[in-house]
Amino acid sequence: MASTLIHSLQGLIIGHSKRVQGPAMQELPQLGPGAFILIENGKVVKTGNQAETPERADRMIDGAGRFVLPSWVDSHTHLVFAGSRETEFVDRLRGFSYEVIAQRGGGILNSANRLRAMPEEELYEQSLARLEEIRQFGTGVLEIKSGYGLSLESELKILRVIRRLKETSGMPIRASFLGAHSIPMEYRENRAAYLRLVQEEMLPQVAGEGLADYIDVFCEKVAFSVAETEQLLEAGWKYGLKPKIHVNQFYALGGIPMACKQGAISVDHLEVMDPDDIQALQQSSIIATLLPTAPFFLRDPLPNARELLEAGIPVALASDYNPGTTPSGRMGFVVSLACIQMRMLPEEAINAATINGAAALEWDDEYGSLHPGKWASLQITDPIPSLDYLPYRFGNDHTWKAFVEGKEV
Ligand code: NIG
Ligand code: FE
Repeated sequence: MASTLIHSLQGLIIGHSKRVQGPAMQELPQLGPGAFILIENGKVVKTGNQAETPERADRMIDGAGRFVLPSWVDSHTHLVFAGSRETEFVDRLRGFSYEVIAQRGGGILNSANRLRAMPEEELYEQSLARLEEIRQFGTGVLEIKSGYGLSLESELKILRVIRRLKETSGMPIRASFLGAHSIPMEYRENRAAYLRLVQEEMLPQVAGEGLADYIDVFCEKVAFSVAETEQLLEAGWKYGLKPKIHVNQFYALGGIPMACKQGAISVDHLEVMDPDDIQALQQSSIIATLLPTAPFFLRDPLPNARELLEAGIPVALASDYNPGTTPSGRMGFVVSLACIQMRMLPEEAINAATINGAAALEWDDEYGSLHPGKWASLQITDPIPSLDYLPYRFGNDHTWKAFVEGKEV
C-alpha cells in the first residue's frame, strides 16, 4: 500500500504509548521543528527529526507551520439518536431543570419515542452524517452507546446501526449497551419488571449477537439506584460485558465505590464528588472520564478536574454527543472548555482527549498516540503559532486534514 510522508512539521505530538496519570499528565512527548512522520499500510512506521527525513514517499505533505497530533478519541457518545430536542433547551432557559423535564416524560424518553418511530435506515443515515462531520474535526476513534431504545426491539435497532457504522465507515468504534438509561413510563410503577426485561431479554440477545463491548447504566436519582446499577453490572459480567457507567452527574450516591468494586473500566461525568469517591478511584485503576460540554450546556458546575489530576487519577475527556445535554461532538471545543473552565493545562487536556480516551476503550495499545506500530490516526492542524493556541482559540476547529488508519477522510 502507498506510503505517506508528512514532513517539515512545526511540531509532531507523539504522545504517551500507554495511559497516563499523575505528573506525566503534564508531559506531552513530541518532536520539534522539522519533524516528520512516515505512514505505510495504515500504520506509523517512522518518526524523527529533519535530518532523518526520508527522501521519497508515494505522497509527500509539506507540514510547514503545522502540527500533527493523534486523532481525538471520543470515548463517550450517544451518536445514534433520532432528531433533536431544542424545545427542552428553551424550556430550560425558561427555568425548568433537566430533572423536572425528565420526570415529566421529556428528556431521554422524548428521544426514545422519536427513535422508536424512525426507520432503521433513516437512523443509520442520520448517524453516519454525524460521524462524518466529527471525523472532519479530528475524531478518529469512537464509542457509541445504545439507550434511546428502551425496548428489546429498539435497543437492538440502535446496536445494529452501530454495527453497520463499524462495517461501513472505516472508523474504529466500540459499542456500549445502555438499556438501563431511563425507566420507560409504562414501567414507572414496576421498576423490577424493567430490570428483568434488561437482564433477561435484552442482555442475552445483545450478547448473543455480539452487539456490545461494554455495559453502561445511568446511575442517578432520575434513573437507576446504586443497588439497581450493581445488579445490572453483575448481570452484564455474566455475558462478558465490562462496565463503563454514567455516575455522579447530579448527585453523589455511592455509585463510584460500587463501580470500582465491580471492576468498571471507566466512570463517566463526575460533576459531583464526595471524598469517598476520590479515595475509591485512587485505590483502583479506573479512568475518570469528564464530559465538560454536558454541564456547560445544562449550566451545572463542571467537574473538579484539578482535584482528580492532583490525586493521581487518570483523566479522560469525551464529548457525550447526545440530543439532550450535548448536541455537539466537537472534541476541539471539549478540550478548550476543559482548559478554560476546569483549568486543565493544554498538555493534560490533549493527553486526556487522546491516549486516556483510548485507554478508556482498552485500545491504548493501538490508538491514541503516534508510536511506530500504532495506527496512523492523526490530525494535521492549520498553521498555528504553538500548541497552546489550540485550546486558546476556542470555537475554531484547527484540523486541516484528518487521517483515520492512514486514510485521509
Ligand atoms: O450523558 N446522563 C445521561 N445520559 C446523557 C443525556 C441523555 C439525554 O438527556 O438524552 C448524558 O448526559
Ligand atoms: Fe452520556
